[in-house]
Amino acid sequence: MKKYYITTPIYYPSAKLHIGHAYCTTIADTIARYKRLCGYDVFFLTGSDEHGQKIQQKAEEQGVTPQEYVDKIVAGFQALWKKLDISNDDFLRTTQERHRDVVQEVFWRIYKKGDIYKGEYKGLYCTPCESFWLERQLVDGKCPDCGRPVKEVSEEAYFFKLSKYEDRLLKYIDENPDFIQPTSRRNEMINFIKQGLDDLCISRTSFNWGIPVPVDDKHVIYVWFDALSNYLTAIGFLNDPEKFQKYWPADLHLVGKEIVRFHAIIWPIILMALDLPLPKMVYGHGWLVVDGDKMSKSKGNVVEPMALIDEFGADAIRYFLLREINLGHDGNFSREALISRINSDLANDLGNLLHRTLNMIGKFNNGFIEAPAPMQAVDENLIAAAKNCLLQYREQMDKSEISEALKTVWSFIGRANKYIDETMPWALAKDEKKRATLNRVLYDLAESLRLTAILIAPMMPQTAKKVWQQLNLAQDFSTLQFDVDGKWGILPIGHTVGAPEQLFPRIEVEKEVKTPQVVAKAEKKPANDDKDGIGTISIDDFFKVELCVAEIKSAQKVPKTDKLMQLCINTGDEERTVVSGIAKFYTEEELVGKHVVLVKNLKPAKLRGIMSYGMILAASNEDGLKLVEVDMPAGSKVK
Ligand code: MSP
Repeated sequence: MKKYYITTPIYYPSAKLHIGHAYCTTIADTIARYKRLCGYDVFFLTGSDEHGQKIQQKAEEQGVTPQEYVDKIVAGFQALWKKLDISNDDFLRTTQERHRDVVQEVFWRIYKKGDIYKGEYKGLYCTPCESFWLERQLVDGKCPDCGRPVKEVSEEAYFFKLSKYEDRLLKYIDENPDFIQPTSRRNEMINFIKQGLDDLCISRTSFNWGIPVPVDDKHVIYVWFDALSNYLTAIGFLNDPEKFQKYWPADLHLVGKEIVRFHAIIWPIILMALDLPLPKMVYGHGWLVVDGDKMSKSKGNVVEPMALIDEFGADAIRYFLLREINLGHDGNFSREALISRINSDLANDLGNLLHRTLNMIGKFNNGFIEAPAPMQAVDENLIAAAKNCLLQYREQMDKSEISEALKTVWSFIGRANKYIDETMPWALAKDEKKRATLNRVLYDLAESLRLTAILIAPMMPQTAKKVWQQLNLAQDFSTLQFDVDGKWGILPIGHTVGAPEQLFPRIEVEKEVKTPQVVAKAEKKPANDDKDGIGTISIDDFFKVELCVAEIKSAQKVPKTDKLMQLCINTGDEERTVVSGIAKFYTEEELVGKHVVLVKNLKPAKLRGIMSYGMILAASNEDGLKLVEVDMPAGSKVK
């Protein structure tokens, strides 16, 4: 079996983890789950980096021992990963004995080889980043990573001969274009190395919260030397040669952009000095910023992931992080964007496909998947889209383009929703002669959902499982394999599906809707400037009415009324709720996908306790009512 060893950075327990940390671990978890789905024997590691001066200082400030201090914070890390459904195979703490033994052994082997020597360190140190800097590397005299002041330190120290390996490392990077990704980081590292590597100070004597140097216990080992070795400890470098043989070298060290330097320069040189193969890839992902700003305690904009998960659920957060941000780039977190994604992609697109499909199979076929008619062009078209989606998704996931892969899946979900509108199963159900055609449609929809569940499993494991369970599929979800199960046409005839249950409730946020401001302006002057008293309005008055095409994304009868339908509509630039008195004339299914005309700047009104933002136009007479439909994209102006 092919193996895949993937790691996250080990996080500093100097404070609680924020949403940026959760971002990195969610990506790694998604890749690990995807690889398992592809049949790999995966080892997924995360952990905590618990030594160093900063931790010692924090513990002192709180009047506890460093161990007590880290124990408490690290328990919080583990609770967060559990809550976020992180499927790590091990959690490494650098204060564990197994790790201390490895770090001392690594130091000892390199020392024996002559690549570590004792000297005098004079230089500049950034305590929060645990980083040494040269004068020329500072930016405005401050740490180039965090912008805080550095301090001059001078002490006896052990040094690691980085300089000796400079050419070998450059050659390795040159011969292995995938080693440092993305390319921008690779170029950055090449330039950094070409400026010349200084030997690295790898011990400290000014504090003692660390692993002692094996040949000199006045010194503790520099925190990065200690931390990087975690990748060896967890797979049995010292105590399990078989496991180590199996998993080393790592396939992917996923790290934030600011620590690529440690992973792409110091770490490979440590490995070269140990005569070990180098990791296959170091990927430097971008940062998550909040409303455009870097997260920091002093700015008071740190987003706490536990509270968000409590509010929206783990999968909604995972989906947002994975969909919204392209892996190599920085991305923005905002509550508004999160809610908008939940409403449009999860509650509407995915939720509707599941709800409509299971609802119709239940209503028209008592829940049975029955023998379908031969395919027609419309069915072939959907199936081609499914097959194309499977191929594209795999290509994208193999390149860790998770956001793109999600776009691919959602475009297929959109296609499947459109297929419902095209085939109109509710109309087929009325005609006994069209029974087999109806079965074809229902089969194709259920099969589309089965595949969707597999495709989203790496990103949203709980949701995927819920879809699977509602489809009532017998196969144990955890045994799924992409090559076997990720194909069109596996759903057996005669299968019975379950009843639909809501996956993601829509989140109503009145203040997010911009309409009231627009209306407030329009209201300053009465719209009906009926000076001549004959009921006419001027052209200017007419132009005050903003009309546009809107797409109905979902529809739900308002409970305890027979007239009102609650609609979620897309206006091209936002989604909003409209309550409309059309429930007697249309079913929920018939409405979804229709492109209707919306009075966009109508003053919001509350109907049966639901805020309605606008009105959709319909024509009516004594025989009935028909919505005004326009074959134009949502957002088109009607004038
Ligand atoms: N302990 C070291 C890593 C040692 S790995 C052998 C460390 N710890 S950290 O807690 O400061 O950062 C851990 C990871 O979190 C880094 O990869 C960093 O880039 C990432 N992030 C911290 N803030 C982040 C965001 N706002 N957004 C995305 N990732 C961020 O460095």
